Amino acid sequence: MASKLSPLLLRVAARSAPRAPRAARPHMRAFTAGPARRSDTLSVHRDTPDNNESIPFKFTPQNEKIIAEIIKRYPPQYKKAAVMPVLDLGQRQHGFTSISVMNEVARILEMPPSRVYEVASFYTMYNRTPVGKFHVQACTTTPCQLGGCGSDAIVKTIKEELGIKQGETTPDGLFTFIEVECLGACVNAPMVQINDDYYEDLTPETTKQLLSALKANANVPAPGPLSGRQTCEHSEGLTNLTSEPWGVETTRSDL
Ligand code: FES
Repeated sequence: MASKLSPLLLRVAARSAPRAPRAARPHMRAFTAGPARRSDTLSVHRDTPDNNESIPFKFTPQNEKIIAEIIKRYPPQYKKAAVMPVLDLGQRQHGFTSISVMNEVARILEMPPSRVYEVASFYTMYNRTPVGKFHVQACTTTPCQLGGCGSDAIVKTIKEELGIKQGETTPDGLFTFIEVECLGACVNAPMVQINDDYYEDLTPETTKQLLSALKANANVPAPGPLSGRQTCEHSEGLTNLTSEPWGVETTRSDL
């Protein structure tokens, strides 16, 4: 009977056949041995008193001018291509990317609101719930975690100093703390991003000083490495090209 079925039907039948339990398929292994670590951010919107569609949102006249400039960068039929910078502008004005911000962006860019929701819920830089004045994002990916002073020590220090856990905001609304994946500054690990700034080459001590300075709003260090490095040069100083360049003359006379 089966031999009379076309190859296509055979393939469809094989795919829809019930699968054996994993125990009966010892050659199949999961990618990870530990439990899956899922995002603690809901991808769907839930109305809250500070985030629901009845709260009006309008861009300021100044931001409207910026939006007009942004939209000009794209062909008129692709206004929706401006969705990311316009959402970012909305977040900066409102403090977070609320449902009303997203709806207003959809209206301005003449796109279905669901398309804007898709973008805002995919990219983690859009905060769809309120965050504190200082949004502390500690990188805990491998390069930041390894080494003598890894990100574990930095995360522990932040939690102890602020008295909050991952995903929480301090009662005074000053700090929100989250762990994030690689922020692209691995060569200056471990590091945190606070609002738009990177603070790098951290130790528990410099992390404490940084948080205290932000709390006091005084003596806040300049962004960048807090170790004295200028940028990402070797932390032990110059290790090559340490002698006079040789052979410029010789090479020329050899030619
Ligand atoms: S791993 Fe932390 S910045 Fe890349």
